[in-house]
Amino acid sequence: MYAQNIKSTGAPVKSLDEMGPRERRFQERINAGEKIEPKDWMPEGYRKTLIRQISQHAHSEIVGQLPEGNWITRAPSLDRKAILLAKVQDEAGHGLYLYCAAETLGVTRDELTEELLSGRAKYSSIFAYPSLSWADIGAIGWLVDGAAIMNQVPLQRCSYGPYGRAMVRVCKEESFHQRQGYDIMLTLCRGSEEQKAMAQDALDRWWWPALMMFGPPDDASVHSAQSMAWGIKQNTNDELRQKFVDQTVPQADLLGLKIPDEALVWNEEKKAYDFGECNWEEFFDVIKGNGPCSHERLEARRKAWADGAWFREGLAAHAEKAQQTFAA
Ligand SMILES: [Fe+2]
Ligand SMILES: [Fe+2]
Repeated sequence: MYAQNIKSTGAPVKSLDEMGPRERRFQERINAGEKIEPKDWMPEGYRKTLIRQISQHAHSEIVGQLPEGNWITRAPSLDRKAILLAKVQDEAGHGLYLYCAAETLGVTRDELTEELLSGRAKYSSIFAYPSLSWADIGAIGWLVDGAAIMNQVPLQRCSYGPYGRAMVRVCKEESFHQRQGYDIMLTLCRGSEEQKAMAQDALDRWWWPALMMFGPPDDASVHSAQSMAWGIKQNTNDELRQKFVDQTVPQADLLGLKIPDEALVWNEEKKAYDFGECNWEEFFDVIKGNGPCSHERLEARRKAWADGAWFREGLAAHAEKAQQTFAA
């Protein structure tokens, strides 16, 4: 998963001439493709933008385990169960790398967790939708992890070193996630009529939420420009959405499934697909915490946090004891 570009910073992008010497040097390093590291000077806005983006990304990985975790005990075979278990564990790992990357910017993991559990922090809108059938596990891997790859591959070149480096490993694992999802879809589509209908139903329900993962259209996404100047973002939301559609339509054709968009048509002139508009009202509503499973997702995270309290306390007590032994 990744962070959606949903809030405007409202700050206009400054030119080099308008910057003080420190900020100018910082921007010149970014323009030259150098990485910014945790101990380097950085503008407060850069730090804040990254904390918001990386923590939203981390929360999305963690909450993103829930729709699929729902199916681990009901996977149709031992192999499918082992694969799904490994995939969901990967997502937990992604969350942990990303919380660590955010911590290098001067926030603590407890603070970030508190923001999530209180409902103040956002996570990707896609995880507020329910996983109703086994085919949804196929659709999530194929479409949701597919969209995540589209977003995260350019993030490997992010100007902030710890974030970009975390993305390298994350992207390798996302490719496996996408393949396992597509493999589930392929198996269902080569199966009985009922199985194929299940796959079509999953595509019908996940297609539009997957397109919304890229965030609102560029003209409604004001802070893209500053994030691009800072080398945090490399492509606009619409560019990535277009790439995703162009990549995914032939994959749906191969499955023999129909993408639920009457406006979808190949445009020979632009050598890309034209496609319909997402329901942005629904998107903003989900982002506000009103998605079909928003309440359930946060409740699950709150319960997990409360259930783990004894373990965190044990770890802290052990660390303190070890330090005392070391000091003595
Ligand atoms: Fe992930
Ligand atoms: Fe994934």
